[in-house]
Amino acid sequence: MDNAFIATTFDWDHRTPKDWQRFTNKLLRKLRIGAQLTPVPGNMANVEARMNLFHLLEQTVANKVPGDVVDVGCNAGDSTIVMQRVISELAPEKQVHAYDSFEGLPELTANDSKDGVYEKGYMAAGLELFTKKFNALGLKLPHTHKGWFEATIPSQLPDRISFALIDGDLYESTKHVLPHLYERMAPGAIGMIAVYYDEAIYQRKGLPGGYRSPGVKRATDEFFRDKPEKVSLLYANEYSNGYFRKL
Ligand SMILES: C[S@@+](CC[C@H](N)C(=O)[O-])C[C@H]1O[C@@H](n2cnc3c(N)ncnc32)[C@H](O)[C@@H]1O
Repeated sequence: MDNAFIATTFDWDHRTPKDWQRFTNKLLRKLRIGAQLTPVPGNMANVEARMNLFHLLEQTVANKVPGDVVDVGCNAGDSTIVMQRVISELAPEKQVHAYDSFEGLPELTANDSKDGVYEKGYMAAGLELFTKKFNALGLKLPHTHKGWFEATIPSQLPDRISFALIDGDLYESTKHVLPHLYERMAPGAIGMIAVYYDEAIYQRKGLPGGYRSPGVKRATDEFFRDKPEKVSLLYANEYSNGYFRKL
């Protein structure tokens, strides 16, 4: 299997909004007007981040790590599409599980609102869109778990996990899910953390998209402070990733 489908399945035009469009979009959301100026961000990641996902997941299959595959923060399903495609072709006995509110981010606590990046409802994408994308590609539908992570995790997690994509963008979401995923990960399982980047290394200023999720690294580093595993950085420009391998 090759990863050429990544380049051809997605529309890689980022359609990055300009500052004034971002500002107007924010205003529209504040006023609860259900419209956004175009262009709105089309993809939740770039091609490099998708390649990272492909290669890390494929490694766990090649190494025969036992357990199922989870996408925690699946949004409209673009990451889940990569995961389901790999699993359907290489390890169809595994089940893919996708988790999301399907109504965007939750109410922010002080730990996230202090970053001044996000607000409740940001990135809302419904389950219908998720399903539509899978049907259009003729891909098997994963198990979807609609709801706040605090309600679906851990109760709806599989007992054993071979690969987890952790992509909740917020400090609180990352902090909540990490211990439950970690506990269920088999030895050799990989956890990939989306938008885990070091602001000291990857300056956000001037980068296309200016995508920021500083709470993700904060929560992840706190969690791993007393763990034997190390989180490594994988370059993907403004969508750089972290990953760890469970010992
Ligand atoms: C960046 S998006 C995920 C992108 C997706 N993994 C991809 O690569 O295409 C983050 C998602 O996490 C979800 N999310 C964040 N915190 C959540 C929480 N506490 N409960 C449920 N969903 C949450 C949001 O609804 C959003 O769809």
